[in-house]
Order: sequence, then C-alpha cells, then structure tokens
Amino acid sequence: MSASEPSMTISTDNEQSKVVGVSTRLHESSDRRPKLARSSDELAAARSKISVSNLDFFYEEQQALFDVTLDVPEKCVTALIGPSGCGKSTFLRCLNRMNDMIDGTRLKGKILLDQEDIYRPRTDVVELRKRVGMVFQKSNPFPKTIFENVAYGPKVAGIRKRSVLREIVEHSLRKAALWDEVKDRLNQSALQLSGGQQQRLCIARTLATSPGVLLMDEPASALDPASTSRIEDLIFELRESYTIVIVTHNMQQAARVSDQTAFFFQGKLIEAGATNTLFTNPEKTQTEDYITGRFG
Ligand SMILES: Nc1ncnc2c1ncn2[C@@H]1O[C@H](COP(=O)(O)OP(=O)(O)OP(=O)(O)O)[C@@H](O)[C@H]1O
Ligand SMILES: [Mg+2]
Repeated sequence: MSASEPSMTISTDNEQSKVVGVSTRLHESSDRRPKLARSSDELAAARSKISVSNLDFFYEEQQALFDVTLDVPEKCVTALIGPSGCGKSTFLRCLNRMNDMIDGTRLKGKILLDQEDIYRPRTDVVELRKRVGMVFQKSNPFPKTIFENVAYGPKVAGIRKRSVLREIVEHSLRKAALWDEVKDRLNQSALQLSGGQQQRLCIARTLATSPGVLLMDEPASALDPASTSRIEDLIFELRESYTIVIVTHNMQQAARVSDQTAFFFQGKLIEAGATNTLFTNPEKTQTEDYITGRFG
C-alpha cells in the first residue's frame, strides 16, 4: 500500500456507516498516514499485553469503576473515550498503580501485565511504573536541562556512564520525534521549549526507562492543532514498539490514532472493539448516542 492511500477503510459512502461526521474526519485526516489501524481480526490475534478482569475501584465509599473487563493488545493503540467523570483517568491510573498514591482507594478484580498480577503483594511498584510509563495532560518537565530531563530515569536506575546516558538520551529523543529540534541545545533549560516540544520531551523522558507500555492521559489537550497533529503522528509511530493506552475527550483523535476503542459511561465499560467498527457500527445504543454527539 502506498503512503498516499487512506489508512482507514471507512467510507462516507458506506450505507452501514452510522457516524458520518466522524468517518468523514477519519478520511480527511488519514491521507497523510501510511499505516492502517488494526482490524478486529488482527486485534483478536494480537497477544494480550494487559488483561483487566472484573475491576471494581473505590475512592473511599464512592465506587468509580464497575466490573470492568478489557484486554489491551500488544503493540496496538487503545483509546479510552467517554464523558467527563466516567472513570477514564481512574482506569488508566489502575494500570500502573498510580491510584495507590491516593489515600482511601481500593480495588477489586485482577490486572495482569505480561500474565503477571500487578496487584500481588510482592510487586515492586517503582519497577512496575518503569515498565508502564505515564504521560500526563499537562507537560511537566523538570526545571533542568533537556539532557537531564531525559537522563533522569536511567540515572535513578543506576546508570552513571556518560556515554551510555548520551546514547539513551539521543535514542529517546529520536523516538519522541524531538531530536532534530533540540540536538544543538541539550544543555538548555527544558522550560524554554514550546508546549508541544515539552510534551514530546515528557514522552522522551518516559521512553528513556524502556517501558513496554505507555499510558497517556489527554496528552494533546493543551496543545495547538499543529502540535496535536505532531503528537498524534508520534503515537501512531510509537505503536511499532510500544503498547499504548490513551485517554482522549476528542473522538476524532481516538478515531485517528487508535486500533481499539473502549467507551466508558458512569464507571462502566459499555463497549470495546476495533476502532473502525466501534465508530461505524457500534453495538450499544449508548455508544452510538455518545459518538453521534447526542450526549456527553
Ligand atoms: N482523587 C479522587 N478522589 C475522589 N474521587 C475522585 C478522585 N479522582 C476522581 N474521582 C471521581 O471518580 C470519578 C471518575 O473520575 P475520573 O477522573 O476517572 O473521570 P474521567 O473520565 O477521567 O473524567 P475527565 O474526562 O473529566 O478527566 C468521578 O466521579 C470523580 O469525581
Ligand atoms: Mg480524566
């Protein structure tokens, strides 16, 4: 397939297509993307990187997630969508035990990473968070140089040799599509970068600890359209090496970057499936109402 072919198979002429607005945008945006979103069959065939079963989650007495069961396929992008307050961020934070830092939280159910239960008592949570890295909505670089930001994780992990650190920094910045823009100013403060560059720096910083999984909570929502597009392209590229779970408010974005989409409503997972299918032929009325903009 050539790079100029559309990457999504959804057609606005398709009588089956229920979500014309979204599929139109899909078509427009996909022209520059050479890759295809994974089909239902490919998703079913992919190895499960994270497997969540019967997850209930509570803040004190308030239950935020109800019986959520979802498989996250390896080297695919999974998008979490749903109205504000439906539990997307809560669910994402369960995947690397970030919620442990909030007092009064508890959880029932099981989350397996590479077939291992991440909530079993002897789990090394610091190690887990290296394997399952997180990028937040607002970029949060340290007030240090660009180099030090990326080298931070490897240094904490005990790497001291300058040449090794340099290699990791370059590799991570290249992966985050930032190297060319910063290679001549690695010793400048990270705070001098633009918002979009800072967000890519935070992605590079996360990649520097070699995570298998990248969790992103609305990583582009504070960015302008050009920087957003850059981040979206990057997510699609990173899919080759990483398993990615992204929360987004923006349905066009979910449609553009993801292979699988999971729709949450009031703490419940209503429907999950191949993005192409979910956006054109949702099974549940609630999903259809949400993606056609009838609520939320
Ligand atoms: N730290 C917290 N303490 C208590 N309740 C919380 C906390 N964080 C979230 N909640 C509650 O859990 C529910 C789910 O919130 P969550 O932040 O996961 O939703 P979300 O889907 O990410 O929303 P948004 O799209 O607005 O970011 C909400 O009712 C929220 O009020
Ligand atoms: Mg949120």
